[in-house]
Amino acid sequence: MTDVTRTATLYRRLAGSYDLSTAWLEPYRRRAISQLRLRPGDVVLDVGCGTGMSFEPIQAAIGPEGRLVGIEPSPEMLASARARVEDAGWSNVTLLEASAEDAAVPGPVDAVLFAFTHDVVQSPKALANTLGQVRPGGRLAAAGPKWTTFAPQLNPLVWQVASQFVTSFEGFRRPWAELERAVPGLWVEEAYFGCVYLAWGGLPRNTGAVRNHVHLTDLPDLAGRHLGYSGWHDITQDDVSAYAALTDDEQWIHVDPERAAAGPFGATVAHGFLTLGRFTALLGEILAVDGVATTLNYGLNRVRFPAPARVGGRLRMGLEVSAVEQAGDGIQVLYAATFEVEGQTKPVCVAEVIFRYYG
Ligand SMILES: C[S@@+](CC[C@H](N)C(=O)[O-])C[C@H]1O[C@@H](n2cnc3c(N)ncnc32)[C@H](O)[C@@H]1O
Repeated sequence: MTDVTRTATLYRRLAGSYDLSTAWLEPYRRRAISQLRLRPGDVVLDVGCGTGMSFEPIQAAIGPEGRLVGIEPSPEMLASARARVEDAGWSNVTLLEASAEDAAVPGPVDAVLFAFTHDVVQSPKALANTLGQVRPGGRLAAAGPKWTTFAPQLNPLVWQVASQFVTSFEGFRRPWAELERAVPGLWVEEAYFGCVYLAWGGLPRNTGAVRNHVHLTDLPDLAGRHLGYSGWHDITQDDVSAYAALTDDEQWIHVDPERAAAGPFGATVAHGFLTLGRFTALLGEILAVDGVATTLNYGLNRVRFPAPARVGGRLRMGLEVSAVEQAGDGIQVLYAATFEVEGQTKPVCVAEVIFRYYG
């Protein structure tokens, strides 16, 4: 729970000088916003928006058809945010003077930003209230300070700087730990010698998949078990064309629906590697491994693409754990993945994938 009274006192004093004194954080704030992958028309929550330092890049991405909701309990910080909105003439911004725990958040929301809001990301109630309004598959991004293990001699400096902005150093080693509960497979990157972190990811899609939860130390119990299926996912031309452009593999069979209609499969088809590339995301729908610091995609033993994955179809993955073994400091899991398209008997991809987990 955040200390609302202390927050109010802290930011009453800071509001006037805030923008200048935190200008050096701008690159991290911008990087966190870019990880939200905003599109025109998106609805974005800026939680603990402060003086609105994130508003301009968010507006640039969502455009006038989008909506930006700022949540901020400090009246002084919010007054600066309001002035910023008025100066820019944005008519699509709603500012809520409230804590993230209590704000009446209008949903559904496409993306949530927690920029330098350590107190908020430690508060399960604040996260439940804000992330609870995010649509399935919506995104979040966070940035903030942390203790560095990489260069511990910098921690007194981290303390000196951060103590101006946070009411508690609880969770300062892994500030994203609570976020990770909401977003399995949260991506985390450290910067500035480990003194700053960025975390981002997508909330689970409501695909009907049933997730298995296991702790790292219990992974060996899964050997030989079939863990079920991911949800169904549309195979879209947009995705296939984007992958074709990204990988310079723009063969007509992937990108030209008219020509492909008269081709061997009667439609455009997804690249085999695109289907295979979905492994990590679909694994996340089926299995969550707790107590893991690092997950490594170690490679593949065998892959086959026995049937075409036509655009317009729906894809899902079945997962079996073939083997679990110790590999140095980590645990190596051999997954047998079978990708299938609705209504087709032959799988479109079968693969043996090796992942390594480190605690
Ligand atoms: C370091 S400032 C970050 C402001 C802004 N996000 C930025 O990137 O500049 C932290 C902000 O979080 C706000 N805050 C603290 N506790 C909060 C809570 N429980 N709910 C919402 N905002 C909170 C503070 O009032 C302050 O404006």
